[in-house]
Amino acid sequence: MTGRIFLKLIAGVFCLLMLALVTVDFFATNVAKDNYIQNLTGQLTDKVRMLALSFGAPETLDVDRVRRMARAAGGRITVVRADGKVLVDSEADAGGMENHRTRPELAQAFRDGSGSDIRHSATIGVSFLYVAVPVAGGRIAIRIAFPLAEIHRQVSQIRGKILVSTALAFLPAILIAAVLARYISKRFATIMAHAGELARGNFRSRLAQTDSSEFGQLSQTLNETAGNLEQTMAQLQHEHSELEKLERIRKDFVINVSHELRTPLASIQGYTETLIDGAIADPDYNMRFLSIIRHNAERLARLTEDLLTLSRVEQQRQKFEFEIHFANALIHDAFEMMRPIAEKGRIQLTEERAPEDAVVCCDSEAVSQILSNLLANAIKYTPEGGRISVGAQPQGSMVEFFVRDTGVGIPEEDLPRLFERFYRVDKARSRELGGTGLGLSIVKHLVAAHSGTMRVESRVHEGSTFAFTLPVNGAALGLDDA
Ligand SMILES: Nc1ncnc2c1ncn2[C@@H]1O[C@H](COP(=O)(O)OP(=O)(O)OP(=O)(O)O)[C@@H](O)[C@H]1O
Ligand SMILES: [Mg+2]
Repeated sequence: MTGRIFLKLIAGVFCLLMLALVTVDFFATNVAKDNYIQNLTGQLTDKVRMLALSFGAPETLDVDRVRRMARAAGGRITVVRADGKVLVDSEADAGGMENHRTRPELAQAFRDGSGSDIRHSATIGVSFLYVAVPVAGGRIAIRIAFPLAEIHRQVSQIRGKILVSTALAFLPAILIAAVLARYISKRFATIMAHAGELARGNFRSRLAQTDSSEFGQLSQTLNETAGNLEQTMAQLQHEHSELEKLERIRKDFVINVSHELRTPLASIQGYTETLIDGAIADPDYNMRFLSIIRHNAERLARLTEDLLTLSRVEQQRQKFEFEIHFANALIHDAFEMMRPIAEKGRIQLTEERAPEDAVVCCDSEAVSQILSNLLANAIKYTPEGGRISVGAQPQGSMVEFFVRDTGVGIPEEDLPRLFERFYRVDKARSRELGGTGLGLSIVKHLVAAHSGTMRVESRVHEGSTFAFTLPVNGAALGLDDA
């Protein structure tokens, strides 16, 4: 392709030069010819005038003398009377020649004092330049004829020289054109290779020469296009992987929900059938089976309740009533609510009070749910005799609440996934304890809805601390009651 551009450019330049050469040849040849004929006419006129001086009376002319003169002049001489009658001719018999009265050069000579004409001589079969001058007071005229073959020879010599020198002058032009054509086709080749890379999807490819020439500007534009494409591709890839991730999460969620529902449903179904099949009449079993059915129904209710809460908070459909509350009041409410359960598990639950004036801007219902979830976990995963404390500490524009326990702890590798839906460190144990694995997920979303953050520290067999922050005023929540 670039080879073709190179050839086309060279062929174009060559055609232009050839056209120029033909034009120069045409005009130079004509000018040289006209010039030469003009000079020759002048020379011949002078020559004939010189001859005229040596002429005596017309009556004294004889053929021999005229022939000598013709040889000396290097042409054919004809002497013609004013009435057109040929008196003497150096090369033909004057008696047999026709009247020359109408010959243009003679008519002009008798009229204007000198005359010339170029004509093909039918007598000899050659083209001649005729020059005539009147002598003897205009009674006769001497005409000299010069064969034009000589002129053609001279002109073609001049023409040859002009052509050679013009062609030589064009040589550097052809060389420069070739170098330029090569340069242009080379740059084209680079740009085309780059375009090919882009077409193959390699958007990292860049052109180096981005100067201010048209090629440079084209390269710059192509580089910008490649940059934009690279960015768009990266964005699309990112979005694609995000979508894949979301799709994976959605599928996992469906599998998890089905799995969580299946166990209590199967249990309810099994025990109901057993009761229908006759166990209802057996006082040893009927109450036990019915309480298992109730336990599983409660579990289903808890699960659906948690799922609904989670989807409400996740989709930001949950309505919050943000108000200023004392941190200690929030801690105390949660403490009072969970104390009976802790006591039942023989666990010591204590309050670590914050400064009395510490306040937070929050939805008290949501904070109650967060604290009771964290306390329920602490109680669930702390053996008898353990200790749990709940408290808060101001931290700049936030207050950090914490729930600390001396329970079983969480292995480090599980910490990053702890807040995922349905994630449980020990599935069997959690299920046995009635957990659905949604509690921390709900907590995380509720804290985020308050523009707060969560952190967890834990060591296996030593205990865990779950902490979250809440803002001291509504500024962080976009409210203007700050
Ligand atoms: N204080 C804690 N000590 C040890 N492990 C904990 C603690 N809190 C949470 N975990 C671990 O994190 C997991 C997830 O907790 P999460 O509260 O989300 O679920 P759950 O307590 O099992 O069920 P529920 O939805 O009823 O709360 C738990 O299964 C447990 O393995
Ligand atoms: Mg829980």
